[in-house]
Amino acid sequence: MNEVRIIGTGSYVPTNRMTNDDLSQIVDTHDEWITSRTGIKERRISTGENTSDLARNAALQAIESAGITPEDIDLIIVNTITPDAFMPSTACMIQGAIGAHRAVCFDVSAACTGFIYGINIATQFLRTGQHQTALIIGAEVLSKVVDWNDRNTCVLFGDGAGASVLQGGSQKGILSIYVGSDGTKQELLQCPAVPVQNTYIPARANFSNAMTMNGNEVFKFAGRIIMESIEKVLQNTGYTLEDVAHIIPHQANVRIIEYAARKLGISPKRFYMNLDRYGNTSAASIPLALDEMVRENRIQDGDKVILVGFGGGLTWGAVLIEWNQNKK
Ligand code: UT7
Repeated sequence: MNEVRIIGTGSYVPTNRMTNDDLSQIVDTHDEWITSRTGIKERRISTGENTSDLARNAALQAIESAGITPEDIDLIIVNTITPDAFMPSTACMIQGAIGAHRAVCFDVSAACTGFIYGINIATQFLRTGQHQTALIIGAEVLSKVVDWNDRNTCVLFGDGAGASVLQGGSQKGILSIYVGSDGTKQELLQCPAVPVQNTYIPARANFSNAMTMNGNEVFKFAGRIIMESIEKVLQNTGYTLEDVAHIIPHQANVRIIEYAARKLGISPKRFYMNLDRYGNTSAASIPLALDEMVRENRIQDGDKVILVGFGGGLTWGAVLIEWNQNKK
């Protein structure tokens, strides 16, 4: 079996910034509420770019940082709940756009846990040698599905994309993966597609495909599952939290992260956070934060890093990585 490691990262966000003050012009909200309840100060909102546009830009950066060419990639997985289309997959769109002619391409739907699921799937292929070099992307234009009249949700989300290149070989990287799902709690976070309507069934009046969320229940689930996922991903690895240099959580709410840190008995400072600048970008949030840390030289070869996510489905998961991007 091969080892699997991340050899490059990239990210991209729309240039348009929407501040909390901007939002207060649209719905009944204010900066003090959003900042104190969530930690979010601003988010990027697309003025026209779709999910595949953000994904392509993040992908090209990851490919450059990996020092490979698109022809080297033989697997592309895009994790998104806001694809441009039902068909083709966003992954096929990226393949066409970047010229990764050899790749097998598909999308994964696991909401905010998407990037963790994508790493999990790619790692299996790379370990067995069925594929050698995988491009994993988390990309969302959530502003397409946000209800801009609902202050409970519209203040939370933003648009963005992050990407990583994974490769199979002899250098260690992905040490452990833990993932889970619970479809009995699907109603807590929902974003409907098109309803059944055809020649027998007339179009439903008042149908909306906007995202809905039971914020309080998701909050409780999130705090607990971050703690559990971190404990599970470390189990039987020989490592403890003491050995971990960085934890990169899904960027949903600073209070969720503070709660999980308290439960784990560690400082919230050990969790990397950029949600003040981007809000919750669902599948993009973890790879976006990872790329930011890599570009700011916050992660050194040999560091143990945990990625941990949770989201609609419900879904959750964590990955323990030994960072060895630069090892030859
Ligand atoms: O990727 C995973 C997806 N989602 C999440 O992770 C979100 C998890 N949940 C949360 O982060 C929090 O539950 C929220 C940020 C969504 C809400 O925070 P909260 O502290 O649980 O507030 P709440 O829903 O209990 O609402 C408290 C009050 C309510 O007013 P009343 O009933 O006490 O008068 C809300 O109507 O705050 C009001 N409120 C707002 N006020 C100003 C709700 N949204 C807003 C708003 N601005 N944007």
